[in-house]
Amino acid sequence: MTPFRILIVFGTRPEAMKMAPLVKALRLREEWTSYICVTSQHQVMLNQVMNAFSLKADFDLDVMEEEQSLTSLTMRLLQRLEPVMQEVKPDLVLVHGDTTTSFVASIVASYFQIPVGHVEAGLRTTDLRSPFPEEMNRRLTGVIAQLHFAPTQRAAANLYREGKSRNQVYITGNTIIDAFATTVRKEYSHPLLQNIKDKQLVLVTAHRRESWGEAMRKMFESLRRLIDEVSSAVILFPVHLNPQVKLLAEKVLGGHERIHLIPPLCPLHFHNLLQHAHLVCTDSGGIQEEAPSFKVPVLVMRERTERPEAVEAGVAKLVGTDGECLYTEAKQLLIDRKSHENMITDHNPFGDGEAAQRICDAIAYHFGFSDVRPPCFVSSLCK
Ligand code: UD1
Ligand code: UDP
Repeated sequence: MTPFRILIVFGTRPEAMKMAPLVKALRLREEWTSYICVTSQHQVMLNQVMNAFSLKADFDLDVMEEEQSLTSLTMRLLQRLEPVMQEVKPDLVLVHGDTTTSFVASIVASYFQIPVGHVEAGLRTTDLRSPFPEEMNRRLTGVIAQLHFAPTQRAAANLYREGKSRNQVYITGNTIIDAFATTVRKEYSHPLLQNIKDKQLVLVTAHRRESWGEAMRKMFESLRRLIDEVSSAVILFPVHLNPQVKLLAEKVLGGHERIHLIPPLCPLHFHNLLQHAHLVCTDSGGIQEEAPSFKVPVLVMRERTERPEAVEAGVAKLVGTDGECLYTEAKQLLIDRKSHENMITDHNPFGDGEAAQRICDAIAYHFGFSDVRPPCFVSSLCK
């Protein structure tokens, strides 16, 4: 009998970070064989993650081009994924989240009538333009997928509202919390920490497509103003490799002695430096989920978040994209200890480090390898 085959497809940094713990968990099981197909929608930033988690791809579609358009990226993905599906003939394709890689891999799998399992399913802002195109990508992937691994109860509720049945949805927690077992070190040092010494570290990341141009310029100007006014603070900004972000960051934030613009960090360094941060200002999805574990308040530089759990738990604030609220809230967190303490909790609403195990158990249950439905992840911080 041919073994049950699982094809795991991912292509960007965040997908790789969150699929890595799942790949490791899948490979410890005997019920199936798994294959990794990286699309390389990202290159350098993907390789940093592959190396950090010692992952090796079975297929590499090498699709990234400089300043790729969504259409051209979609076309290359469609063309290059087909032969992989034909060769592997998977019984299940696993995709993650909301990228163009995830959405296109779902469509191609569905053309071959292969079931799709969606990891980090059910996140919604309800606004198709924010984040763009991620809200669209995850909704379309949700329509195609048969199996939905929702990180939280709220994400599952979104899926039920859209008509998914309970036997398709498993509440697992987010696999990013599992990733800390590989990346986080008790003893950690970095030359940057020596430079920063007793200053307050403000970690910054930004890349969202809907903020390119004017909104991003305003955010960066506010951050520069903040650093000019608060002499105890230092910005560390590992800049996304997208030229839309890089050029603007250098123009607005470059040449300041307390603003460090550096290339993207490997996940090991990113997570360990995050532990030392006083505050994170970001438009990232994943960093909103990570920071609560390190007791670091998050200012979310976006108009909307699909991760309201962090805001409700009081560990994140949505500061929009005009820069004003970002400046006010960040300054408050730097100068007022009480405000900072109020944004710290002992629990992470997004996971407990067991998500990959739950997803494996759910797959085993769903495909008849086990009779036991895995228990749901429940967070004490979520309603
Ligand atoms: C993509 C995802 C987004 C995710 C983000 C994580 C889509 C549409 N967007 O956005 O959901 O939040 O990744 O970072 O799927 N580049 C490099 N080297 C790299 C990576 C990127 O040079 O290692 C540059 C290239 O010029 C590339 C550009 O960045 O064309 C944009 O990459 P792309 O994946 O299209 O979009 P992101 O904004 O990174
Ligand atoms: N990250 C990293 N190095 C960096 C910046 C971020 O490893 O220099 C990691 C971070 O820990 C998180 C992920 O990248 O897990 C988030 O990626 P990004 O913000 O690009 O994407 P999003 O989560 O918004 O889709």
